[in-house]
This record gives sequence, structure tokens and C-alpha cells, in this order.
Amino acid sequence: MQCLPGLVLALSSLLGALALLQLSLHLRVPSRYGKHEERPCPPRGRLPARCAWFLQELPSFLVPALLLALRSPPRLEPLGCRLLCCLFCWHYFYRTFIYPFFTRGRPFPLQLLFFGMLFCIYNGFLQGYYLIYCAEYPNNWCTDIRFTSGLLLFLLGMGINIHSDLLLRQLRKPGEVTYKIPQGGLFTYVSGANYFGEIVEWFGFAIATWSLPAFAFAFFTLCCIGPRAYHHHRYYLKTFTDYPKSRKALIPFVF
Ligand SMILES: NC(=O)c1ccc[n+]([C@@H]2O[C@H](COP(=O)([O-])OP(=O)(O)OC[C@H]3O[C@@H](n4cnc5c(N)ncnc54)[C@H](OP(=O)(O)O)[C@@H]3O)[C@@H](O)[C@H]2O)c1
Repeated sequence: MQCLPGLVLALSSLLGALALLQLSLHLRVPSRYGKHEERPCPPRGRLPARCAWFLQELPSFLVPALLLALRSPPRLEPLGCRLLCCLFCWHYFYRTFIYPFFTRGRPFPLQLLFFGMLFCIYNGFLQGYYLIYCAEYPNNWCTDIRFTSGLLLFLLGMGINIHSDLLLRQLRKPGEVTYKIPQGGLFTYVSGANYFGEIVEWFGFAIATWSLPAFAFAFFTLCCIGPRAYHHHRYYLKTFTDYPKSRKALIPFVF
């Protein structure tokens, strides 16, 4: 396979356009799963959360891993490949093989699962293709301020995201599906602490890789889960009269 810059530009632009579409669709109406699922679909239209999250996220891990394995000659030496393995695949290893097996979430709508999988194939291919076949970094990239600051942001965001996922999970006993007020960690400051972590993480990845596909993905993440954090926040304010008034929706002390 060769690097086709036109293909990278086209796929990244489409990802940016999809981000704007997400934003326009979900600013007013939240994506209908979890606490925003209005009318539960019939049982045959849903899959247990564990199974659904595993299937949905698997392509994000598998597609870049396959691209790496099929690379000829197969090697990890270029920095782009190592960044892909260490950062992108690391996140999706967690999301595919760890997160689903501990989730206590409600069954997930099949329709959303289908679109989620398509997106993961698309994005897994774009990030993998770019970092394996197109990215070129100078020898001193690892000491460049963009790499070091991006890596720090990525790690910080991933830490916040995983810790917040854990705090949410601990709100329920196995088999429970009720909602409670999240406490501790970054939830002290925002209702969407897990989303804040994920957004910081992908902007960190974009800065560390300094690539158009990664910036397009970070923007997509912001447009996809930013509105969801806002809807979570409104849900909590409406549902719990004792919800902390100083807590913001997504960005501590700001919004
Ligand atoms: N990169 C992206 O574009 C993207 C897109 C979507 C999601 N994600 C990531 O995927 C992860 C899951 O996303 P999500 O939208 O499912 O997050 P979520 O709505 O916050 O839910 C996460 C889990 O916690 C449970 N939960 C949420 N609030 C709760 C409460 N108040 N009390 C008890 N349990 C509660 C949910 O159960 P229920 O399912 O029963 O509500 C679910 O199992 C997040 O870390 C997110 O950052 C990333």
C-alpha cells in the first residue's frame, strides 16, 4: 500500500463534516441510549451492554492492528507506527477488552451499535492508514514540545476517562439499572467527567501526532460527546433536587 495524500484529506474532511452533523443532530436531542433512551426498544432491538460495547469498539482496535500486521515489510520502527500502537491501540484495547466486561449499563440499541461499528471501522482505517503509510517525523520528534505536551495530555485524559468510568460503575450493584449522583474525582466539578477525559485524550493524541486525521477525530469526539455531557447535566438537574449547583456540564468552572 502507498500513501495517498488525497485520500487522507478526503477521509479527514468527511470526518469533520460528520462531526458537524453530529453536533447539529444532538445539540437539542441527545443520542438515544442509556439515560436518554425515551422508549425502550423491543428486546430484540437491543443487545446486552457488554456484548454491544465489545462489538462496537472492536474494529477500532482490529483495523489498525491488521494494517500494522499486513504492512510489508512488517516493522514498528517508524515513529508513526509506534505512536499508533502505544496510544491509539492502547486506548482501544481498554475500550474493547476491558471496559465492556465491567460495564453495568443497560442493553444497547442495535441500530446505534451498527452505526458505531461503521464509524469505528472508518476511523480505525483512517488513523491507522495515515500513521502507518503517510506520517513522517523528524528524528528529534520525541523531544518536540508538540509530542511531549500531546503525550502528557493524552495520558492525563486517559487517566481521567478510566477513573470516571470506574466511579460511574461503582454507583450500581450488579443487576441494578438506576441512576445516582456521581461523586468524587472530576465529577466534583463536571457532570461529564468521563467525556471531558476522553476529549482531552484525543486532543492530546492529535497534538502528539500533529496530524489532520487525528485533529479531525478529536473534533468529532468533541462534537459527539460534548452535547451528551450537556444533556446528562440537564438530566441530573431535573432528576435530583439535591444535585450540586456549582457543578458544570463539561469543562470545570467554565461550562
Ligand atoms: N470518542 C467518542 O466519540 C465516544 C463516543 C461515545 C462514548 N465514548 C466513551 O465511551 C464511554 C461510555 O460512554 P457512554 O455515553 O455510555 O457514557 P455514560 O452515558 O456516561 O455511561 C457510562 C456508564 O455509566 C452508567 N451510568 C451513567 N450515569 C450513571 C449514573 N448517574 N448512575 C449510575 N450509572 C450511570 C451507564 O449506564 P446506562 O448505560 O444504563 O446509562 C453506563 O454503563 C465513555 O468513557 C465515553 O467517553 C467515546
